[in-house]
Amino acid sequence: MPTPTAPRPEPFSAFTTPAFWDDPHISAGMLALHLDPDAELASRPHDVVDRSVDWLVRHLGLATGARVLDLGCGPGLYAHRLARRGVRVTGIDVSRRSIAHARAIASAEGLPAEFRRASYLDASLGSGYDAALLVYEDFCALSPTQRAGLLRAVARALVPDGAFVMDVTAAARFTSEQPFEEKDHDLDGGFWAPSPYEGQHERWTYPELRLVLDRYTIDDGASERQFWNWTHCLTPDEVTRELEAAGLAPPELFGDLTGAPYDPDGPTFAVVARLPSGTTRGNP
Ligand SMILES: C[S@@+](CC[C@H](N)C(=O)[O-])C[C@H]1O[C@@H](n2cnc3c(N)ncnc32)[C@H](O)[C@@H]1O
Repeated sequence: MPTPTAPRPEPFSAFTTPAFWDDPHISAGMLALHLDPDAELASRPHDVVDRSVDWLVRHLGLATGARVLDLGCGPGLYAHRLARRGVRVTGIDVSRRSIAHARAIASAEGLPAEFRRASYLDASLGSGYDAALLVYEDFCALSPTQRAGLLRAVARALVPDGAFVMDVTAAARFTSEQPFEEKDHDLDGGFWAPSPYEGQHERWTYPELRLVLDRYTIDDGASERQFWNWTHCLTPDEVTRELEAAGLAPPELFGDLTGAPYDPDGPTFAVVARLPSGTTRGNP
């Protein structure tokens, strides 16, 4: 495929993630993917979600009544499973469609779960949580500045010895990414907008940062919109420095959220970082 003709944008020079997830057309497709037990594009396959929740409950010692904050909870795949075990979950997500689905299931089953439609980058996250989750490598879609702010807010939201848990796109993933551009009528089979539209997908890489930008330009004849998807491939050392800068302890390291062992050549890794028990807090 040809390389992009447009100049490579500055790193993190646009941020459209909330607009992507809350778009009325795109969010319908993403919700269907979340709910497909075998799909891997929006959430992990549901058997992996089951095993992850088993491991999280065991590893974090989440007893009935424990409080968990699920950042970017989507339609509640993790939140509902935790709440069915008596864990009190607060899910935050920017997608109206996903939050409506998550609330409907929680209400139908009478689960101890509440869901807020907000951006976790702007909203107050509250306090008093035994654990906070950020699942499916969403950390790596954020700029270093956004990550620093989010981690500080997470540290304020946790009780002493509370755990922040996330999975991360690993540095090893970067080596397989190459720049290209493609154009197509109804790009990706109508995923981006109601048909008909013209779509362009450009990918740039930033080897010096291990950063990838996928930019999608969608023109339906009436308007042109762009969606910028950043993927920052990180090392455990880089993540540890960011966690420590926010006041969290050096993390335990795993291969994924089922508790698999860390693999330095693997495409992802997962961290469990505690808020040190002696932490005193200022104003939230
Ligand atoms: C890849 S999905 C993962 C969903 C869920 N964690 C899971 O693994 O099933 C990312 C989710 O994060 C949400 N999201 C992305 N950016 C967000 C933001 N700034 N604030 C709140 N939610 C956000 C999206 O709407 C989407 O539901």
